[in-house]
Amino acid sequence: MASESRRWWQDALVYQVYVRSFADADGDGIGDLEGIRSRLGHIASLGVDALWLNPCYPSPQRDHGYDVSDYVDIHREYGSLELFDALVADAATHGIKVLMDLVPSHCSNEHPWFRAALAAAPGSAERARFYFRDGQDDGRAPPNNWQAAFGGSAWTRVDDDPADGQWYLGTFTPHQPDFDHTNADVQQMFVDVFEFWFDRGVEGFRVDAVAPTGKHPDLPDQPPIDGDIDILDITWLNPHTVFRPEGHAVWRDFRATLAAYEARHPGRELMMVAEAYVVRRPELLRKFTRPDEFHQMFNFDLMLSPWEPTSIARALHDPLDILADTGVTPAWTLNNHDIQRIVTRLGRADAHLPESWTNNNLVSSGADVDLALGERRARAMAALVFALPGSLYLYQGEELALPEVLDIPDDRRTDPIFALTAGATTGRDGCRVPLPWTTDPATSYGFSSPPAGDQAPVDEPWLPQPADWGDRSVAVEERRAGSTLHLYRELSAARRAHANSQPLAARALELGRDLVAVARGDLVVVVNATSAPVDIDLAHPALTDTTVVLSTTEQPTPSGSTIAADSTIWFCR
Ligand code: BGC
Repeated sequence: MASESRRWWQDALVYQVYVRSFADADGDGIGDLEGIRSRLGHIASLGVDALWLNPCYPSPQRDHGYDVSDYVDIHREYGSLELFDALVADAATHGIKVLMDLVPSHCSNEHPWFRAALAAAPGSAERARFYFRDGQDDGRAPPNNWQAAFGGSAWTRVDDDPADGQWYLGTFTPHQPDFDHTNADVQQMFVDVFEFWFDRGVEGFRVDAVAPTGKHPDLPDQPPIDGDIDILDITWLNPHTVFRPEGHAVWRDFRATLAAYEARHPGRELMMVAEAYVVRRPELLRKFTRPDEFHQMFNFDLMLSPWEPTSIARALHDPLDILADTGVTPAWTLNNHDIQRIVTRLGRADAHLPESWTNNNLVSSGADVDLALGERRARAMAALVFALPGSLYLYQGEELALPEVLDIPDDRRTDPIFALTAGATTGRDGCRVPLPWTTDPATSYGFSSPPAGDQAPVDEPWLPQPADWGDRSVAVEERRAGSTLHLYRELSAARRAHANSQPLAARALELGRDLVAVARGDLVVVVNATSAPVDIDLAHPALTDTTVVLSTTEQPTPSGSTIAADSTIWFCR
């Protein structure tokens, strides 16, 4: 496809901002919009096209914003609509668009509609916006056997009033009641929400939790599951609430809303990217990205792949195949706010084992971690994804090679998964620790600034930072030649110079079983995902007349010889 006819999002570089942990401009230990504005220069230095804000709507923060109590305002700890407008305007001066995070599957139990539903009678219009059902056994038992994604029953009893006896459905937690998207009020609300934010200059949305949006109308029991299964995986195997046809009806409505807005606003190119763990299920990727559904869907296979050539090649295969067939560009990512950070994942002693491929990388395998090794591998993986056709989503802090923080004290953990599994799963706090900007512990390593003119000490950050956090800060990485921060800037520049001009298509190259190689027009990217140097045949037709334009190790490829262990090289004509 000629680059002129591309939509901006098809090969965009997007930076994910976890608002709570990015930068705190008022010293309360919690990130905010003003903090993002003050650090836009850092985001711009990575050459990104857009930033994606994790939910920053008003919320009781039971699931850090994924429990929305008002879809058309800004959470008070983060700022205001005026500050949001200022952020969009400032970002635009850097050529950066703003994407938000839409949570359609559920809201907060403090959303006014849900409060009204609790106050209303069974069978009322207020309850019809959610899934309220009579309990079994005279109301004493839940309506069915569904389990919640974060542990426990998916049903919560309204109250002990025998005259009521109803329960409501919360697929994630009791604080996140599910919307019934067959309800006309719910449908209209999301149309209004889209339009509200598009009017404020938002160019698109990452759409949260698309897998469990839409339910079997009869809410039947989940069929029995064979074998031993982690409690956190039960929901994802429930055919009555996951990947339902009713969900696809919702996405088609959403897409029509975007199309109608674009038609009324020529020049706008809006997008939605779907979040669902469809690992090793290309048929689902195809379904969700049909022309009247999502523009893109995250490809999580690569993020969850072990550090092993066959698995990495396999993770690339399906998205590139779909791209070739349909023109739908993949949305690549190596990290997000739900998954252990890549440096830790790939530094694990078991990271190369095929069985370390798991749908649930929330849980540490318990293996020893070598962070230096993990960083080398993470750099190699980054160099792979920066070259690929499609958009690329970076998660704040990966440009600093931040590791997962594994030793957060139990009494400081805030992820509902930790509480709801009674500590059996530590949860996701470890990838959400506030960023280190400087070496100064008095300001939480530059994360918190005292309000202008105020000399008062800043509050403790909402999650504790490790003692060595300053050594991993932006300031230190800026000064260190060859740091991962410098590599990310180099990768971004190389993407613009050598990758974006190539076709939106790529194919696997056979360069030997130890190497993962992809050719995209005149660009060839080769990964050595083994722990020994591997010979490369520079006489291969795909490599003749090429030069090395980038390498993730300091040792460039000597002509005609080897690629260092755990590294990636770009060759270009
Ligand atoms: C989000 C999580 C959130 C969950 C419930 C996920 O897909 O990424 O952070 O806890 O949805 O909204």
